[in-house]
Amino acid sequence: MKLTSRSVSLVPIVSTVATVALGASLLLAANANAATTLGAAAAQSGRYFGTAVAAGKLGDQTYVNILNAEFNMVTAENEMKWDATEPNRGQFTYSNGDRILNQAIGNGKRVRGHALLWHQQQPGWAQGLGGSDLRQAALNHVTQVATHYKGKIYAWDVVNEAFADGGSGGRRDSNLQRTGNDWIEAAFRAARAADPAAKLCYNDYNTDGINAKSTGIYNMVRDFKSRGVPIDCVGLQSHLSNNAPSDYQANIQRFADLGVDVQITELDISGSNQANAYGAVTRACMAVPRCTGITTWGIRDTDSWRTGENPLLFTGSGAKKPAYTAVLDALNAGGPGPTTTTTTTTTTTNNPGPGGCTASVSLNEWNGGFVANIKVTAGSSALTGWRVATTLSNGTVTNAWSAGRSGNSGAITWSNVDYNGSVPAGGSTEFGFQGTGSASGLTPTCSAS
Ligand code: XIL
Repeated sequence: MKLTSRSVSLVPIVSTVATVALGASLLLAANANAATTLGAAAAQSGRYFGTAVAAGKLGDQTYVNILNAEFNMVTAENEMKWDATEPNRGQFTYSNGDRILNQAIGNGKRVRGHALLWHQQQPGWAQGLGGSDLRQAALNHVTQVATHYKGKIYAWDVVNEAFADGGSGGRRDSNLQRTGNDWIEAAFRAARAADPAAKLCYNDYNTDGINAKSTGIYNMVRDFKSRGVPIDCVGLQSHLSNNAPSDYQANIQRFADLGVDVQITELDISGSNQANAYGAVTRACMAVPRCTGITTWGIRDTDSWRTGENPLLFTGSGAKKPAYTAVLDALNAGGPGPTTTTTTTTTTTNNPGPGGCTASVSLNEWNGGFVANIKVTAGSSALTGWRVATTLSNGTVTNAWSAGRSGNSGAITWSNVDYNGSVPAGGSTEFGFQGTGSASGLTPTCSAS
């Protein structure tokens, strides 16, 4: 009896010790794997973590030390804006923008370009223009600046803040808007022509939750996608106070579902709930595969444009704040990465001669989902219509743009829509789709129709 009761009483003690030991080793393992900087933590899931940089601060050693250690994406806070880059019409000055770009690239960081067209921070000469003269000057500005930085910019904010606040969901009045509603798509087309490698973004504020303004932008992006206007990403500035909107993640997701990336471009958060809110914003981005990165609008509280609100991750003396830890932990907790594999395959059609075409696919896949962009290229004669056959054995299409389709899985035939059936000899057009599951074995084949 005695022995039995002793052995029984030992069991919980042994198991408690074992549990504690196991727990400690798991904790150690987790800590050992955790990244210790924002950029490295974000990179674990294929994302970036960036900051706005002011050229005038690149001589401040505390600032530069934090910049180099923590961030792997940089946005010029003011130095690539219209007033900075074209102070006189046709006369371009890139010295401060170049300083920021070169500092970033020299330290292994990438650069977001900000911003090609905006109603604010226009040079005086542009403020005084209107009509076709302004349109021509604006598109020339886009072309010149995007050409100067060609191949060096990860993503451009092509157009900044063009939608009105309040319930209208429409455009903001501005000299640019008065040149015609199509000024935004004209700017995107000019930017694509100048720098085909840069992702092209539309960027705005008060668009962080689902509201009339963000829905107006959502409708514009959907329209652009359906008509083949080149747009790759939407920037949510996220200048917040105390909390992210409760539907922040849902808003990110609905844009992602249109087939564009989402980037949090100017994050700063004031108020006593700051650390929690920063954690929530980061987790929301981490939960959406196409939310590809986060940029804070400055490094230290003393660098912020929101004077006195202390909305950033580092104190004025450069110490990490609780909000920093909340962000780092959320990045380290992981999430479905935006692009775990990127593959490009080319397949030639059965009839590549006159009247024929080829299809190539650029595929971004992550665990559980994918985006496929398919390029249709005409052979030695023009196409008046085309079809592309794909096989989706283990995936389902959830969203598609710029093509009709026969189904959502298995053997799918895609066909041109009315505006992209005509392709000149040697020319090309693109369509795409997003889906769940895997797109391996897609093998597109093109035929003229
Ligand atoms: C701000 C800069 O931080 C300030 O230095 C400048 O005086 C005004 O512009 N939305 C944007 C950014 O897109 O360019 C703005 O940056 C902040 C709001």
